Amino acid sequence: MNKAYLKLFCGGSNQHKRCTFSNKAKVTSLVATFSAFAIWIYIFAGISIPFIQIGKPQQEDFLLKCIKEKNFKQTCPRNYPSKHNPTNPNTHICPSYFKFIHEDLKAWREKGITKKMLKEAKKKAYLKIVIVKGKLYLEKYRKSIQTRDVFTLWGILQLLRLYPAKLPDLELMFACDDKPVFPLDKFEDSNDSPPPLFRYCSDELSLDIVFPDWSFWGWAETNIKPWKDILKDIKEGNKKTMWKDRVPYAYWKGNPYVAPTRQNLMQCNATLEKDWNTLLYIQDWIQESNQGFKKSSLGEQCTHRYKIYIEGWAWSVSEKYILACDAMTLYVKSNFYDFFIRGMVPLQHYWPIRDHNKCTSLKFAVEWGNNHTNKAQAIGETASKFIQEDLDMDNVYDYMFHLLNEYAKLLRFKPTIPRGAVALCPEKLMACNVNGTQKRFMEESMVKLPSDSNPCTIPPPYDSLTLQEFLDRKENSTRQVEIWEDEYWLSKTKGQ
Ligand SMILES: *[C@@H]1O[C@H](CO)[C@@H](O)[C@H](O)[C@H]1NC(C)=O
Ligand SMILES: *[C@@H]1O[C@H](CO)[C@@H](O)[C@H](O)[C@H]1NC(C)=O
Ligand SMILES: *[C@@H]1O[C@H](CO)[C@@H](O)[C@H](O)[C@H]1NC(C)=O
Ligand SMILES: *[C@@H]1O[C@H](CO)[C@@H](O)[C@H](O)[C@H]1NC(C)=O
Repeated sequence: MNKAYLKLFCGGSNQHKRCTFSNKAKVTSLVATFSAFAIWIYIFAGISIPFIQIGKPQQEDFLLKCIKEKNFKQTCPRNYPSKHNPTNPNTHICPSYFKFIHEDLKAWREKGITKKMLKEAKKKAYLKIVIVKGKLYLEKYRKSIQTRDVFTLWGILQLLRLYPAKLPDLELMFACDDKPVFPLDKFEDSNDSPPPLFRYCSDELSLDIVFPDWSFWGWAETNIKPWKDILKDIKEGNKKTMWKDRVPYAYWKGNPYVAPTRQNLMQCNATLEKDWNTLLYIQDWIQESNQGFKKSSLGEQCTHRYKIYIEGWAWSVSEKYILACDAMTLYVKSNFYDFFIRGMVPLQHYWPIRDHNKCTSLKFAVEWGNNHTNKAQAIGETASKFIQEDLDMDNVYDYMFHLLNEYAKLLRFKPTIPRGAVALCPEKLMACNVNGTQKRFMEESMVKLPSDSNPCTIPPPYDSLTLQEFLDRKENSTRQVEIWEDEYWLSKTKGQ
C-alpha cells in the first residue's frame, strides 16, 4: 500500500489517535486562528462569502481546492452550498429495484435500530460512518483491501454534495470485504434483533444490507474509470460493430482463480475437438498493469454477440460492465446479489445459465441466440438500456439517498459526532492526500454542484403477494430455459 494511502487515514491502525486532536484547547485555538485568518482572507482577497454571493453558484467555484503550502493543515472549503434549493420541481418514480430497499430493511421495521445492535455489527465492520448536520465523520476499525474503503467514503461525500443538508443524521456500520456475515436463520426465531451491517453484496440467506460498491467512483488498482465515464465508453463501444457482425460466440475474460465455479467454467473453452461456442480468456492483471491496461479497456469489449457473467468469491464488480454491453448476457446462476440486479429478469435482460453443466448450457444458449438473432439482440439491448438509464449515476445516488434515508428513520437514538472524530470532505483526508490514478478518478467523479432537482420518489414496498409473484416469474423463466435445454440435448442424443 502506498504512503499516500496510509496517510489518507492518518496512519493505519493507529488512526484514531493520530487523526485526533490531542485536546480540546488545541482545537479551539486552531479554530480561532483559522477563523481570524479566514476573515482576513475574505476581506482582503475579495473572496466572496456565501451569504453575500450574488447569482447562481458556478461549477468552477467548487472544484477541488488543495492547499500545497507546507505546514498548512488542509481544511474544508466553507463556501459549498449548505442548502438544497432545486429549481426543477419535477420528480419521477425511482426504478423498481428501489423497492428492495424496503426488503433489506425489513428486519428492523418493527423494533428499530438501537446502539446495541450497532455494537454487534461493529464486530464485523471496517468503518463506522456518522453523518451529523450534513457532515461525514469516520471511525475506522480495519483496513480494507485496495482502495475500496476510500472510494466508498468518497462516494458518500459526493452524495452529501449532491443533496446538501437533505440526509437526516445517521450512524452506520460498513464492511468492505466480500461475503455477507449475518445469517437470516440465526435471528429469525430469536428475540435478538439482527445487527445492521452495510456491504457491497448479500445473499438470500443473509441480512446484510447492500450498498453500491466503490467502483462507481473508480477502481484505481485496475484502472477502471468512474462509472459515469465508463457508461459513455461502452455506449460508444456498442456502436462500433453491428450486433449481427459480431463474433457469434460467448465471451468471458477474467480471473478464474478466485473461485472453483470459475475454474470449472474453463473447461468450456472451445477447442478443435469440442466446440462449446465459448471463448474464455484469463485476465492477467499484473501484465496488464505493466502495459498500462491498454488491453482491458471496457469500451472495447463488446465484440461478441454473447458475454458471460459469472460470480467470483462473491458477487463480481464485472457484472454491470457486462450487462452494459449490448451483447446478450449469459448469466451463470449466482448466489450473491448486489443492489440493482434484483430488478433484472431472465429472458428479458439476460439468458440464465446453469451453474452445474455450464458447458452444455452455454452451448445451447449460443445456438439458440444464433437461431433467433433478433430475440437475442433484443435481450442484450434491453439490459444495456436498463444499465444506461436505471443505473446511471443519478439513480445510484438516489438509491444511496433513499437507502440511507429509510435506514435513518429506523434509528432509535440520536446520532452524535464520535469523540475525536474528524469531519471528512473531498479535500480533507481525501483527494488532497492522494496522487496519480486515485486523484484523477476523484477529480473526475466529484460532484461539482448540488442537484437541480429532488431525488426520485421511492416506490412503496412490495406486498408479499406481488413480491412472491415477481420472484416466481423469474424462477419460471429460468425453468423454462432449462426445459428447452434438456429437450435439445435429449433430441441430440436420440439423433445419434
Ligand atoms: C481459449 O481458447 C482460445 C482460442 O483457442 C485461446 O486463445 C485461449 O487462451 C483459451 N483460454 C483458456 C483459458 O485456455
Ligand atoms: C438451431 O437451428 C438448427 C437448424 O434449424 C437446429 O438443428 C438446432 O436444433 C437449433 N438449435 C437451437 C438451440 O435452437
Ligand atoms: C504527490 O506527488 C508529488 C510529486 O511527486 C509530491 O510532492 C506530493 O507530496 C505527493 N502528494 C501526496 C499527497 O502524496
Ligand atoms: C410459474 O409456473 C407454475 C407452474 O408451471 C405456474 O403454476 C405459475 O402460475 C407460474 N407463475 C408465474 C408467476 O408465472
